[in-house]
Amino acid sequence: MIELRNVRKRFGRQVVLDGVDFVVQEGETVALLGPSGTGKSVLLKHIIGLLKPDSGDVLVDGLSVPSLQRQELADLRKKIGYAFQTGALFDSSSVFENIHLGIADDTKYRDAAFSRERVAECLRLVNLPEDVARLMPIQLSGGMRKRVGIARAIAGRPKYLLYDEPTSGLDPVNADVMDGLIENLQKELHATSVVVSHDVRGSFRVADRIALLHQGRIRAVGTPEEFMAAKDEVVREFLERDFQVAEMER
Ligand SMILES: Nc1ncnc2c1ncn2[C@@H]1O[C@H](COP(=O)(O)OP(=O)(O)O)[C@@H](O)[C@H]1O
Ligand SMILES: [Mg+2]
Repeated sequence: MIELRNVRKRFGRQVVLDGVDFVVQEGETVALLGPSGTGKSVLLKHIIGLLKPDSGDVLVDGLSVPSLQRQELADLRKKIGYAFQTGALFDSSSVFENIHLGIADDTKYRDAAFSRERVAECLRLVNLPEDVARLMPIQLSGGMRKRVGIARAIAGRPKYLLYDEPTSGLDPVNADVMDGLIENLQKELHATSVVVSHDVRGSFRVADRIALLHQGRIRAVGTPEEFMAAKDEVVREFLERDFQVAEMER
């Protein structure tokens, strides 16, 4: 389970998180929506302890993340797959090496046959051909880098998966593949996941529940059906704007 309790975070005078309460139950996938710049990535970074709250608490797997010691945090992170917004690949390492780093179990990591097979499997899961493993990140398109980043995040079969904008910048076909992948991983790994997105439609497909981050707080949370039926004017405005944009792109 992931739980943020009254989390506040500011950078200088800019308040980004202003009392966030957010719960993801075991095995659940929650889509975290919100316009650009509202603090979605900042929220995700609190879950893996890359950022510390000014106040409030972040609980993952029963542990209070902000108070963990270095080694405890490293152990917790082995259970968490984090797909960064930009892919965040190591440019001087091959695709194989980048994905291999995601295998968190030391014994499996050193098992060459297992590693080869697992890297190939993860590439297949993100709809990339196996021979991409030999390439360097600089030889990949933005969308491919992103998918390699996701392959790395899932390589260790983590209990928790955090996806930061997994479909942004992908063409519609690969965005669909990605949504399908998130759905399948959810079934296969029973992972507890947060999918950060500004793509309402994709989120409705993959998420058990939807949460909207607005002015530093979770403004609304509910099933896709509840979300669509919400009367809250902020939710309505967000949905309408998104559907207008989708119309324009068509
Ligand atoms: N490390 C940081 N230092 C200062 N400001 C930051 C930092 N990280 C994020 N911010 C600011 O916090 C706000 C929210 O950012 P972010 O979480 O990236 O938004 P998004 O919802 O688009 O993911 C932005 O105004 C951003 O500039
Ligand atoms: Mg972001």
